Amino acid sequence: MTDTTEQEAFWKGEFGNDYVDRNTGAGWVAANAAAFSKILSRTQHVEGVLELGSNIGLNLMALRQLLPAAKLSAVEINEKAASSLQANLPDVDVHLSSILDFQPETTWDLVFTKGVLIHINPDKLPVVYDLMYQASSRYLMVAEYYNPKPTEVMYRGHEGKLFKRDFAGEILDRFSDVSLVDYGFVYHRDPNFPQDDMTWFLMEKQ
Ligand SMILES: C[S@@+](CC[C@H](N)C(=O)[O-])C[C@H]1O[C@@H](n2cnc3c(N)ncnc32)[C@H](O)[C@@H]1O
Repeated sequence: MTDTTEQEAFWKGEFGNDYVDRNTGAGWVAANAAAFSKILSRTQHVEGVLELGSNIGLNLMALRQLLPAAKLSAVEINEKAASSLQANLPDVDVHLSSILDFQPETTWDLVFTKGVLIHINPDKLPVVYDLMYQASSRYLMVAEYYNPKPTEVMYRGHEGKLFKRDFAGEILDRFSDVSLVDYGFVYHRDPNFPQDDMTWFLMEKQ
C-alpha cells in the first residue's frame, strides 16, 4: 500500500460520506444512461466493465440497463459509498480500495472513470493511467473536466482537491497502441439530460 494522499483521505472521510447523501436520484441515472448510450454506440462486444471511483453506482445503474448481461465491477475508496453500491446492485463486484492500491487480477472490455481523475493527486495520475491500460482488454474511457493546460480550481471551498487537464491526451501520449475512437461534451444546461459540463473521450487499445 502506498502512502495515503490528502485527496484519498478527503474522499475516505467525512467529505466522502456527505457526498453519498448529496448525490442520489433517478435524474442522475437517466442522464448517465443518455450519455453512456452515446458512448457505447461507438463500441462493440462490451461484456465486462470496470468503473474506477464508482461512488454509489449511478453510472453502473445506467450501465446495468444498457448492458443487462455484462459483468460490472467497481473500485471505490469510501466505505459508505461502496456499501450503498453493493446494496443497490448486488451483482456488481465491488472492491473497497483506493484506485492507487488496486491490483486487478483480470481484465475488462471497458475501463472508465467519470469525475474521478479530477480528484486524484496529479503526481499519481501515471499510476491510474497505467492501471486503466493494464486492466482494459479493449476500451478506456474518461469523462472528466477538460482543460488544455493543467489547472487547479477550488472545490466546494477546498484547496488541492480538484484539478482539470487533458487527461485523455496524456493517456494517448503515454500509450502508442491506444487511439481515440470518439469524444463528446454534455452541457449542464442540456434541457433533457444535463451533466456537470463533462467531456468524455473513448479510446481503444489496438
Ligand atoms: C465526484 S465522485 C464521482 C462518482 C461517480 N464516478 C459518478 O460519476 O457518479 C468521485 C468518486 O471517486 C471516489 N474516489 C476518489 N478518489 C479515489 C481513489 N483514490 N480510489 C478510489 N475511489 C476514489 C470518491 O470516493 C467518489 O466516490
